[in-house]
Order: sequence, then structure tokens, then C-alpha cells
Amino acid sequence: MRLSTSLLAAAGAVPLATAQLHELAVKAGLQYFGAATDTPGFREREPYPESYSQYDAILEDPKEFGQTTPTNGQKWLFVEPEPGVFNFTEGDYVADLANRTNKILRCHALVWHSQLAPWVETTEWTKEGLREAIVRHITEVAGYYRGRCAHWDVLNEALDEDGTYRKSVFYNVLGEEYIRLTFETAAKVDPEAKLYYNDYGIERPASVKTAGAVRLVKMLKDAGIKVDGVGMQAHLHADNHPSEADLINTIGMYKEVVKEVAFTELDVRIKVPVDEQKLQWQSECYQKVVGACVKTKDVCVGITIWDFYDPFSWVPHVFPGNGASLLWFEDFSKHPAYDGMVNYFGELIEAQGGNSTCS
Ligand code: XIL
Repeated sequence: MRLSTSLLAAAGAVPLATAQLHELAVKAGLQYFGAATDTPGFREREPYPESYSQYDAILEDPKEFGQTTPTNGQKWLFVEPEPGVFNFTEGDYVADLANRTNKILRCHALVWHSQLAPWVETTEWTKEGLREAIVRHITEVAGYYRGRCAHWDVLNEALDEDGTYRKSVFYNVLGEEYIRLTFETAAKVDPEAKLYYNDYGIERPASVKTAGAVRLVKMLKDAGIKVDGVGMQAHLHADNHPSEADLINTIGMYKEVVKEVAFTELDVRIKVPVDEQKLQWQSECYQKVVGACVKTKDVCVGITIWDFYDPFSWVPHVFPGNGASLLWFEDFSKHPAYDGMVNYFGELIEAQGGNSTCS
């Protein structure tokens, strides 16, 4: 989709010719603006091989993205498909790309109920057996990547929609103990990495899941266990998104219990068909995340979008009727949200006196 000038104008976009997202984020005082990516040829990245050279040029541009995350490659299903059998091929693709292009690597995710190897769910576990399986998994995976992961999403989505613990195989066998074991083990294996609790639906202050995330992290802290950050996935909706003040208030709640937070999987889905109004709402939503992070930069370290190119987004596959959630359309023209963020970063930098904290 090629955007008309009027569409750009509608979105309040004043093109700033050369400024790009990561360089602006750093000027505004964040550590990074990043994009997650998947292994070429797999899953959402199966089609469009003809787009790869243009895609890679954007992904690898150090001014655009200073951080990356493998969207799939380090998940249990792929790294330990059989008990004790490890395969780091897919995780290495993104870890190597980060190294080659000088990007911060967020690693994702050690323990999660989804995309779990089938054997974990079909085994009739004793408590001791499952403890050993968790410890072996974390020891091998976090051990293999030790020194390369700035952050680890140690535990992903352990809360149900009502804010109580999700009844995963881990919880059903071990109860809350599995959460402590997971973080304790990660801290032993990779003490330098920032250890995160990561979840979706924890971006609004009044959400029961936000309260659950605070409770979960506090439980770990009270037990003397290392946890450094809360990752707000931020899979948001263009037509109903949190205000900047809501996001700031939520970050304030996490600040009571952890040193840092990050927006870890940002995308803003639109109900298709896409139109100017919806792109405008989307642009506002992306800008609110930028504003909230920059205005709390003592705790908010950075923003990661969950891929950047619409054809490689997970959204249309998982939420039929939704799409266009990222920043580049199929023809590589940019969404209004891109210039919206560039302009807002510019204003925020200006308001700080134009100073860059890490130039
Ligand atoms: C998604 C991937 O992007 C898809 O390719 C995959 O099929 C399903 O998982 N929360 C998470 C991510 O923590 O790992 C998920 O990623 C999106 C929701």
C-alpha cells in the first residue's frame, strides 16, 4: 500500500528526512529501539523470499534498530524438542545477526506454557522429575547463550486473564514453586543477564493482570530471588489503546518492585480493512508508548516491536480480521506511525533541552 500525502498529513506526519528510530530513542535517553525477527523461511517468514534483501537492509540498519529478539528460535519446542536433545540452530540465527550488526540481544523465552515441546505436556511427572527437567532446560539454554543475552524473558505469560496463576503443566505439578525455581536457576546460570517476567495485558494500571504481575514479582523479591525487570508485551489495538498516562502509571507500579521495565513485543493491530482513521489511531498508540517510555526513562529501558514488516507479523494468523500492525506495509512504504514516532521523539528530545544522555 502506497500512502498518499494527504494520508500522511492526516496522521500529523512531518517527515524528518534522516532521523531514525534507534538513534532517536538513544538521544531521548532510552537504551534502544529494536525489532524482533524470525528465522528466514519459517512460519510467518515462509513467504515473500523476494523481499528478503530489502527487509534485511532495514533490520540491519544500526540507526533504525539497536536491539533484536528471536520471535521463535529460543522457545522450548525448538531448542529442546526431545528430552535432553538441544538444537540452537534457529536461536543462533538471530543471536549471530545481533552480534554481526552490533545490536543488543533480548533472549526469549525460557519457561512458557505455549510452544512447549509436546513431551513436556505428555509426560506423567513426579515433582522431582519436572524440577529436574526445568533445571536442565534452563541450565543448557541460558548456559549456551551466556554472555550474549542482555535480557532473558525467564518466565513468560504465567498469569491467567483473571490475574491468578495460569494452570500450566508447570503450575499443575509444582505450584508456585516452579516460578521460584525458574528464576533461581536462571540467576545461577547467567548472573549478568537482566532477568525479566514478561506478559501481555499488563499495560494498564487497573488490569487484574497488572496486579498479578506486581504480586508475582514481589513474591520472588520477598523470597530473596533475583528478578530485574517486567516486560510489557504490548500487543495493542489501534481502536482501543491505553493512554500515555495509563502506561506511565503502570510503569510506576512496576517501579515499586523492579529496577527496570521494557516494552518487549509492541504491535498495534488494526481491524481490516485499513483506512486513514485507523492508521491515525495506530500512530497515536505507538506515540503513547514512546512518550510513556521516554518520560519514565529512569526505569523504562527500551521498546521492541514484534517484527517491523506487516507480511511477517503473527497478528493476521492468530487474530483473523486484524492486520497491518507494524510499521512497514507490504510494499515497504511506511505507516504514518513511523513518522508519528519520529516527530514525537523529536519533541521529547527538544523538551529535554536537546540533550542526548548517550551520544
Ligand atoms: C508468537 C510468534 O510471533 C509466532 O510466530 C508464533 O507462531 C506464536 O508466538 N507472546 C509471546 C511471543 O511471548 O512469543 C509470541 O510470539 C506472541 C505472544
